[in-house]
This record gives sequence, structure tokens and C-alpha cells, in this order.
Amino acid sequence: MKITDAFLGEHGVFYAQFDHVEQLLERGPTLVEIQAASATIAAPLVRHAQLENDLLFTAVEDQFGPGGPMLVMRTEHDHIERTLEAVACADTVTQASVLLREAILEARDHFRKEEQIAFPLAESVLSNDRLSELGQSWAELRAVRITGVVRAS
Ligand SMILES: [Fe+2]
Ligand SMILES: [Fe+2]
Repeated sequence: MKITDAFLGEHGVFYAQFDHVEQLLERGPTLVEIQAASATIAAPLVRHAQLENDLLFTAVEDQFGPGGPMLVMRTEHDHIERTLEAVACADTVTQASVLLREAILEARDHFRKEEQIAFPLAESVLSNDRLSELGQSWAELRAVRITGVVRAS
């Protein structure tokens, strides 16, 4: 399995989670409820970003040097993480709600850029064997068991 396919699958789960949290925000939650919802997004999102940085983006940069779309993606990871940290520190419902909506919008926009630009670029510069090796590393770090691995052609 290519690592890009693994990350696309993770995006799909996050999209469902973002929908759920946006619906919660419509119902007028308390500050504690907003911050709890934000924390359930932040922890897996930070890990998702770390894995993209450390596995896929690093592999592309090893061939082509830093900069370009991968650097933009890394910068956006940092920004989304800071916004979610600000939710945890917010003092009012309004502040926390605005920040959490902002973080979700940023994350949706970021995911679309990965899906439309960064991942296709990575797939064009890394071989299918390399993408599959990275997929195996992803599986080990995520404790996902991949059996019956079929090499991409
Ligand atoms: Fe990302
Ligand atoms: Fe991503």
C-alpha cells in the first residue's frame, strides 16, 4: 500500500470528525465541551502531521531539497496546531468556538491542497516501491497490520 493512500484514508476519517464537531458547535456547547471536542481532534491531527512530515515530506525533500509545496505543508501543520492550542487556552465560549471553526477550515483547506497538489507531486517523484516502503513504515508506526501486500505496478 502506498503511503499516500494511507494518508488519504486518514483524511476521510478526519472529515467525518470535522462534520461532527461543526454540528456540535451549532448546538451552543459550553467552553469545556468545545475544548474537549478540540482536544479529540488535536491529538490525532498532530500525529497525522508528524507522520506526513517525517515519512513522506522528508522522502521528497531528500531527493529535491527543502522548499516548495512540502515546506508550505509543514508550515500549515504548525499553524493548525497553534490554532488548536489557542482553543485550549481560550477564556470564553465565543473565542473558543471561533478558533475551533478556524482550525477546522484551515485543516480542510490544507487536506485539499495535499490531495490535489502535495500527494500527486510526491507520487510523481517517488517510485511505487518507495511509496510502498513508506506505507509499511506508516503501518508499523500506526500499529496497523498489513497482510497480503501486493506491490503497486
Ligand atoms: Fe498535512
Ligand atoms: Fe494530511
